[in-house]
Amino acid sequence: MRGNPKFARRKELMKKTDNVIKKGDLYYPGEEFKKKALVSDASVYKKALEDPVKFWEKLAEELVWTKKWDQGFVHKPPHFEWFVGGELNITENALDENLKKRKDKIALIWEPEPTDQKQKTFTFGELYQEVNKFANCLKKLDVKKGDRVGIYLPMIPEAIIAMLGCARIGAVHAVVFSAFSPKALQLRLQDTEAEILITADGYFRRGEIVNLKQNADAALSDENTSQNDREKRGTSVKKVVVVKRAGNEVRMQSGRDLWWDDLVGKESDECQPVPVGSEDLLFILYTSGSTGKPKGCCHVAGGYAVQAKFTAKWIFDFKENDIFWSTADVGWITGHTYSCYGPLLSGTTVVIYEGSPDWPSPERWCQIIEKYGITTFYTAPTAIRMFKKYGTDLVRKYKLATLRLIGSVGEPIDETAWDWYFNEVGKGNCLLLDTWWQTETGGILITSLPGIGPFKPSFAGLPFPGVKVDILGEDGKSLPAGKEGDLVVLPPFSPGLLRNIYKNPKKYLETYWSKFGSKVYLTSDGAYKDENGLVRILGRVDDVIKVAGHRLSTGEMESVIEKHPNIAESAVIGIPDEIKGEVPVAFIVVKNTNKPADDIKTEIINLLRKEIGPFSSLKTVYLVKDLPKTRSGKIMRRVLRKLLGGEELGDLSTLANPECVEEIKKVV
Ligand code: WT7
Repeated sequence: MRGNPKFARRKELMKKTDNVIKKGDLYYPGEEFKKKALVSDASVYKKALEDPVKFWEKLAEELVWTKKWDQGFVHKPPHFEWFVGGELNITENALDENLKKRKDKIALIWEPEPTDQKQKTFTFGELYQEVNKFANCLKKLDVKKGDRVGIYLPMIPEAIIAMLGCARIGAVHAVVFSAFSPKALQLRLQDTEAEILITADGYFRRGEIVNLKQNADAALSDENTSQNDREKRGTSVKKVVVVKRAGNEVRMQSGRDLWWDDLVGKESDECQPVPVGSEDLLFILYTSGSTGKPKGCCHVAGGYAVQAKFTAKWIFDFKENDIFWSTADVGWITGHTYSCYGPLLSGTTVVIYEGSPDWPSPERWCQIIEKYGITTFYTAPTAIRMFKKYGTDLVRKYKLATLRLIGSVGEPIDETAWDWYFNEVGKGNCLLLDTWWQTETGGILITSLPGIGPFKPSFAGLPFPGVKVDILGEDGKSLPAGKEGDLVVLPPFSPGLLRNIYKNPKKYLETYWSKFGSKVYLTSDGAYKDENGLVRILGRVDDVIKVAGHRLSTGEMESVIEKHPNIAESAVIGIPDEIKGEVPVAFIVVKNTNKPADDIKTEIINLLRKEIGPFSSLKTVYLVKDLPKTRSGKIMRRVLRKLLGGEELGDLSTLANPECVEEIKKVV
């Protein structure tokens, strides 16, 4: 597999230069790198902050708009709008523009998991045709502008084609991660009221075929309700389009289920892009919050397009020869912005990979980097820690000489993982971009620009030009360097920030615009700045945990656990994990049963897998008689966290039931 001749030429193009220099504990781009960088003049920061709206408007002018906007930014707290009155189609920018400039350049490379199957590539010309064909299918299925379309697909080219196909006709895509359970899919389909679902027969994961269609069927079935369930039944889905990927046997429901190939084969490869309003919905993507129900983040066409394009282009310093690989799944925001929209809007070649980076051997990811001559590699700290654990000699077998930038996202990257990634993957010659952002922000908000710097291990860096962030104390006052507080984003925010929570404006206001008032966006991350203004992210301060980079809500897990008929109460907390960063453990109080504890534990774990997905697996379940509570009945998760961490518990006099702490100590 090493040295695929088709891509070998690239290696000659990429001559090693001094990409990085170190001054004290800071890293900067080397002279050679700086000279070639798209953005290398530090004055960009100052200029952008003098008039952020003007700054973003200038960037927006580089996109094609069918109608120019009247106003750059309008603020009606907690709501805000960008490029008001403008109209565009994001796919005209991502496809038609590239058709003019680089029709025969490869836009998308797909690497299947089984090593005996061939990769697929699409030039910009071919991608344009495939998207148009699929957009025409959607029209035949009577999908109109503004209609929601569910996408439940693995990492295959059709996932990208389906998203772009929706955007082409102004339909709103709602992608659901393929490892989410039927129940999780059902919830999202109910909330969006999607009438169309795009899925696949199956896909390969760690050598096995996952029967995705079966999960989709279960989500659509009225019977798929769990014990104690008083929730809504069924969905509004009328048609299911099924991609044939793994060839596994599936049940096709006549009148409802249609094969992708049968539909697409008949369609023309021309479809006019439908202009949509700048503030019209482009997609909904669900994410976990503090409470039980996932939140549908609403992202809009104009602002998202501008932010996706320029954060991708400037942060990854895209050049015509770059080959970009982001390992995140399209089911997450990283997959939306940096495997689909961002690179395509910049005319950059992207690689997507179906499977697990360590399958069939721990070096698979190195082989992919070499095979395609990846220049920019973007992954999560969990993956880095896993690669490191497999052994440094494995990665040393590979030169990875085409890499010029490496990136990290999704969770704090500790110094040990940073050093290893920088020295062993980047071979000490690639800048390491630690990028901070959220599903809500739509694109990266904090990371130093590669042509400018500085970079510092375990610090995300400087906010993107035009983005004002601050660290606030409990009193809402800006904190000086070194002091930890709440990370917030100040007006005019950024064009790609979410505009609402789908069908839940109340939750939008409460979650993001309450703690410090309706003009300050609360990220729910703790952070501090150093004396250079570099931001260090400390992690979530709410009930969200990041498990292997996946965002899970402990509140959501508790509400699933409490559906079990024998559970009276539960508390889920995250505890540190060497590889995954954090893992959830549950404390449960059992009622009305003589069932053996082990059976209950297994049932709880299975219930979570069924209702959320396999990645929500609890590391440990502790059966306890009571949970520590305040006098008003609030469970003190902090006490549980300290108990497990072996920390001093401090003053327990505020607890209504301090005696339970001693009981819990016996079981942990
Ligand atoms: C949460 C958002 C950003 C796309 C993928 C995750 C954490 C994200 C970093 C980073 C430390 C980070 C934060 C944030 N996070 N990037 N570079 N350093 N923490 O999106 O699933 O919505 O999660 O991920 O806690 O709030 P998400």
